[in-house]
Amino acid sequence: MQRRQFLAGLGVLTVAGFAGAAEQAAPLRGPDVIFVPTPSDVVDTMLKMAGVTKNDTVYDLGCGDGRIVITAAQKYGARGVGIDIDPERVKEATANVNKARVADRVKILRGDLFEADISAATVVTLYLLTDLNLKLRPKLLKDLNPGTRIVSHAFSMGDWKPERTADVQGSTVYLWRIPPRAA
Ligand SMILES: C[S@@+](CC[C@H](N)C(=O)[O-])C[C@H]1O[C@@H](n2cnc3c(N)ncnc32)[C@H](O)[C@@H]1O
Repeated sequence: MQRRQFLAGLGVLTVAGFAGAAEQAAPLRGPDVIFVPTPSDVVDTMLKMAGVTKNDTVYDLGCGDGRIVITAAQKYGARGVGIDIDPERVKEATANVNKARVADRVKILRGDLFEADISAATVVTLYLLTDLNLKLRPKLLKDLNPGTRIVSHAFSMGDWKPERTADVQGSTVYLWRIPPRAA
């Protein structure tokens, strides 16, 4: 475990997907929240609430095993980018992308979601914690284009009122939309 933490501390940024694998040095820390997968019914609700189509690029910030971006590509033909800080999850998600034969549309990146370039997203999916959502909120509002939809499994954004909520399998799913920029 100590060796794993040391290696995780050294960190690499791994990109797999559209153009194969590439690696680049980048120091990373440990995850802010452990991996707990979103159940498939909840994934379906999140993607439906966001109204995902083949024209979308779905970013899952803290992608775990990649199930949300893989489902978005399989069911809707969307592009997907999954970002996770844990090298084990990146390995697992990359293998799942290849197994699902969606590597032409989905890439998995190792990185810190708070530092990542998310500006190409038209949909962002989250399953983090309320305090992490709140920490992320200024970045979402600054980096995402107006109209970008954000869906969160189980956790709110404090006083940012959701456009819609849905209850599924005992969990609440929240939907927000990035508002137009103030003139
Ligand atoms: C609760 S799991 C959600 C996994 C997936 N999004 C899903 O809904 O099935 C949270 C994931 O976030 C990752 N994570 C935690 N902190 C992170 C950070 N700062 N940057 C990137 N990923 C992070 C964890 O490694 C874990 O895989």
